[in-house]
Amino acid sequence: MQKEKFTVAVIVGSLRAASLSLKMADFLCNQQYRLLALQIIPINDLSLYNEDRETAQPPRAWQKFRDCIREQDAVLFITPEYNRSVPAALKNAVDIGSAPHGHNVFRNKPAAIISLSPGKMGAFGANHHLRQSLVFLDMPTLQQPEAYIGNSEALFTTAGTMTDGHTRDYLAGFMDAFAGWISRHTQAKPGR
Ligand SMILES: Cc1cc2nc3c(=O)[nH]c(=O)nc-3n(C[C@H](O)[C@H](O)[C@H](O)COP(=O)(O)O)c2cc1C
Repeated sequence: MQKEKFTVAVIVGSLRAASLSLKMADFLCNQQYRLLALQIIPINDLSLYNEDRETAQPPRAWQKFRDCIREQDAVLFITPEYNRSVPAALKNAVDIGSAPHGHNVFRNKPAAIISLSPGKMGAFGANHHLRQSLVFLDMPTLQQPEAYIGNSEALFTTAGTMTDGHTRDYLAGFMDAFAGWISRHTQAKPGR
């Protein structure tokens, strides 16, 4: 069957209900893209990775997460920065998806990273620590354009509407580049 759009798993690096990263994810999921269909894959229920639990019956939440990622064509990470690195919840999700050895569900899936922070540096540290893991997971990760979104508290209304036109335009270009990147790095071609 012909594919209409690339499916993209959106993984949000913050667990809090009022998360700005989640607002960003919701905003992007609500846009209409010609080639992309975005879906948030929750990581809130993932218990901490422990190799002892990697039995014939690993935790159900781990299995569900792995199955969800396996089904998607690509992955978009949207993350804040904790102590100049990736929040533990996001690293945990990355670890769970990468295991057990030889069954890395992220392998070969094209990826992109949007990092954001209320500060000026746009969570550059988190963005690049995450990139380090994605190299090892063998995920071709979009290099340009980059998305370090600073001053993120001023971006949204409480209802989640994005108020800043410049950022909106930048993200539209970023997602367009991501669609091209996925197209170049995947076998499945939508709309053909
Ligand atoms: C434990 C912790 C560490 C943080 N470290 C950083 C940091 O290194 N750099 C930064 O820009 N913001 C840092 N922050 C502030 C977060 O960027 C801010 O709380 C942000 O809103 C969290 O993302 P969220 O809104 O998606 O939950 C930190 C926040 C917490 C709770």
